[in-house]
Amino acid sequence: MTALQQARRAWTQLWTDPGEKRPIIWHWVVNGVLASTCVPARLRTVGYRMMGLHLHRSVLVRPGASIRDRHLTVGAHSTINGKCVFDNRTDVEVGARVGIGIGAMFITTDHVRANPRQRSGTGKSAPITVRDGASIGSGAIILSGVTIGEGAVVAAGALVNRDCEPHGLYAGTPARRVKDLPTDDAS
Ligand SMILES: CC(C)(COP(=O)(O)OP(=O)(O)OC[C@H]1O[C@@H](n2cnc3c(N)ncnc32)[C@H](O)[C@@H]1OP(=O)(O)O)[C@@H](O)C(=O)NCCC(=O)NCCS
Repeated sequence: MTALQQARRAWTQLWTDPGEKRPIIWHWVVNGVLASTCVPARLRTVGYRMMGLHLHRSVLVRPGASIRDRHLTVGAHSTINGKCVFDNRTDVEVGARVGIGIGAMFITTDHVRANPRQRSGTGKSAPITVRDGASIGSGAIILSGVTIGEGAVVAAGALVNRDCEPHGLYAGTPARRVKDLPTDDAS
């Protein structure tokens, strides 16, 4: 490696926090500027798209979102309410017409717990998928590897650690199916 390459690498490392793939400037734009209340929602979506997030142009994101990386796909006419957290070190894929309540969290990472001296040692991650028409309640926590089925409802405050089948209401910690939801279009 040449001295110039070494210097460039050191400079990049200086502006990238340990464990992060994106440089600080990316976080500053995405989680500072664009997440602020000063930015209108339509402009926020345009900004996120420019920063590499795969948001349909009709997506509405309210202020205060915390987004870890570019691995976020959101389909048409979905809404992400205020202060949601996307720990999306691997893919979080949200379908069309999905509503996500205030402060919901999507955690794609965990740790291998085998080392007794460091239970939060080696990391592992798995994608999260939310299918079309689903609804995620405020404060819900969705853990890695989970798929929320089409038209399913996750109640406020639920902890989802297993897949939710389509058109069911899931509530509690851990979330359980408490009710079947109608599948005929009543609206
Ligand atoms: C789930 C929810 C939609 C209610 O749906 P519903 O079809 O009217 O459900 P019900 O009131 O019939 O409740 C069904 C069961 O789930 C339970 N339940 C409902 N919401 C619950 C919750 N958040 N946590 C735990 N249990 C819940 C009820 O107590 C009931 O249990 P029971 O049969 O033992 O009495 C509502 O409680 C909820 O969580 N809404 C989300 C609000 C929100 O976050 N909005 C976003 C704003 S941006």
